[in-house]
Amino acid sequence: TPSADFVVVANRLPVDLERTSEGGQRWTASPGGLVSALEPFLRSRKGAWVGWPGVPDVDVDEFDDDGLVLHPVSLSSAEVRDYYEGFSNATLWPLYHDVVESPVFDRAWWDSYVKVNRRFAEASAEVAATGATVWIQDYQLQLVPTMLRELRPDLRIGFFLHIPFPPVELFMQLPWRAEIVRGLIGADLIGFHRPGGAQNFLWLARQLVGLEPTRGAVGVRSRPGMVQVGDRTVRVGAFPISIDAAGLDSLARTKGVIERAKEIRRDLGNPKTVMLGVDRLDYTKGIDLRLQAMHELLHEERLRPEDVAFVQLATPSRERVEHYQRMRGEIEQMVGRINGEFARVGHPVVHYLHQSVDRTELAAFFSAADVMVVTPLRDGMNLVCKEYVACRHDLGGALVLSEFAGAASELTSAFLVNPHDLDGVKNALEAAITLDPAEGRRRMRAMRRQVLTHDVDRWARSFLQALGAEPVD
Ligand code: G6P
Repeated sequence: TPSADFVVVANRLPVDLERTSEGGQRWTASPGGLVSALEPFLRSRKGAWVGWPGVPDVDVDEFDDDGLVLHPVSLSSAEVRDYYEGFSNATLWPLYHDVVESPVFDRAWWDSYVKVNRRFAEASAEVAATGATVWIQDYQLQLVPTMLRELRPDLRIGFFLHIPFPPVELFMQLPWRAEIVRGLIGADLIGFHRPGGAQNFLWLARQLVGLEPTRGAVGVRSRPGMVQVGDRTVRVGAFPISIDAAGLDSLARTKGVIERAKEIRRDLGNPKTVMLGVDRLDYTKGIDLRLQAMHELLHEERLRPEDVAFVQLATPSRERVEHYQRMRGEIEQMVGRINGEFARVGHPVVHYLHQSVDRTELAAFFSAADVMVVTPLRDGMNLVCKEYVACRHDLGGALVLSEFAGAASELTSAFLVNPHDLDGVKNALEAAITLDPAEGRRRMRAMRRQVLTHDVDRWARSFLQALGAEPVD
């Protein structure tokens, strides 16, 4: 029976089912920015979350997780291959990230995407109470808004895209471009990270579906537009996502994290400079570029190997997709090459962990790092850089940040770099390493002001207010 007044629908549940070696199972935290942003918000709402438990071929009943109702949608192995690894992550992901890798267009994958989107729409229709608000998330579920509206016209439906929305010339390559636009316009509000994404979408809605955009003032930041779909008005706007900044700030102030940060520096041999990268192991993140920049700085003796430890935490991700396998091989080879040339016994220069790390340990790494290196070729927002800033209550540390991350328009006191410009990246790393402490504090204070006042709660509320699902304060 339908029950929840507020429903989040995402490809993944906030927890992943994991099979243990003893044949049992346990739940672990899901990877990625979407879950880390939305989970704290939804927990405070006591809503329902519809999503996949992260492994194929399991049937799990709806269950209650600390007041949050989790409603699992199961996927077969073939669907994981075609809908998730295929269409979502080998077609849409590279297409929406500036074709950093070539997207693969496969009709069988598309068919699976349609079928799975329908299953998510049906599950959402089952969970939502009459007149409920349903908030659909991200590129894996772009057909759900219209499918759900057909099943349940009584619902208030929002959609948010957590990755970049591509330039129109790239989107136009997609054989199913009109179907995607038609899928999205079932929502009452469609949100993107940046105004440019919203504009691209509005142009496409006119070109591909013949919808007339109308301008109007909606109570959100970026002069959003609207399109008229029959007698419905669909609003389109930009809503830059954020993190649970206060939560991380207080976690970073705990004794455990402070002690652990010191221990990490000791374990690294107390070098002058600890540098850090934290990413899902993804080809959009520019991990290879930052390693190459490090390699050249060491080569040119602009950096002495005994002065620096570079820690790269790379969370395993989408490991069966070929693009990811290739990238992993390249990165691991580069790590090997740098250490081969510049390490001493017991003192590698690059410390590479292909592992996921929990939130407390992550806060300790952020607290230990003098220079945080975030160099994606394209990233919707990038929450890791905001997490770093939220942890630096001591006003220490410096951030090197790609211009092509959504966060660059907020964190303007970072060392902003064009990741394609290797010399520029090297100069920025050097500047961050040799940063004058007073100047560093000034920069960090400015970034903290932005992050602490623009947290995930504010993001979610502004989206829901524009959707009319939340009173305007
Ligand atoms: C990004 C996407 C999310 C996705 C996450 C992890 O943050 O925007 O939708 O869940 O990466 O990727 P995965 O494929 O493991 O869910």
